[in-house]
Amino acid sequence: MYRPSEDTYFMEDILTNYRGKIALEVGIGSGYLTRLLSTNFEFVVGTDIDVNSIMYAKNNTLANISNKLLVCSDLSLPLKCKFDLIISNPPYLPKEFGNLDDTAVYGGKKGIELTIRLLRSIQLQLSERGKIVIMRSTLSDLKKMDDFIEKLFLNNKIIAKKTFFFESLEILELSGVRNGSMI
Ligand SMILES: C[S@@+](CC[C@H](N)C(=O)[O-])C[C@H]1O[C@@H](n2cnc3c(N)ncnc32)[C@H](O)[C@@H]1O
Repeated sequence: MYRPSEDTYFMEDILTNYRGKIALEVGIGSGYLTRLLSTNFEFVVGTDIDVNSIMYAKNNTLANISNKLLVCSDLSLPLKCKFDLIISNPPYLPKEFGNLDDTAVYGGKKGIELTIRLLRSIQLQLSERGKIVIMRSTLSDLKKMDDFIEKLFLNNKIIAKKTFFFESLEILELSGVRNGSMI
């Protein structure tokens, strides 16, 4: 299970500004960010592909939180509802940086494949005025990701950037799914 780290706390600082009715976190890890969302939203749904993360969050971080639903799934594919906010601190490192089997940190060959699959799948789960807040690393193929985002969303901006020892992390806010953009 992915324990709260620098990237988790960076996301936390940004997420305190968001409020609404229903929020989704894809890839909850320990459930640290899901707990924050549960204080600012009426209801929160969290998913993770790793059942140990779901069990840990259920029995520890989110044990006393009643306005939540946890689902062990690939991305949020089983969900059919719409969300005011969708967040993810997904695995974003390119696979050439290490162990290919660690699904908590490696996001595919260029570090963006999982994120692209995620953005493609959640476009139908975003409410009309909903927002997506997502983390990425400058070690991944940002050009390719930006080309994809441009085609899918009307609005996209980098709302925060932080430089660490060997990479910079960026937090993006996306909104407004383009009409007929089912790419
Ligand atoms: C970088 S960790 C972030 C965890 C937590 N959100 C945080 O910020 O501390 C990425 C998480 O995504 C999960 N994950 C990886 N691939 C996934 C997939 N296809 N569907 C759902 N969750 C996935 C991992 O198990 C891991 O818990």
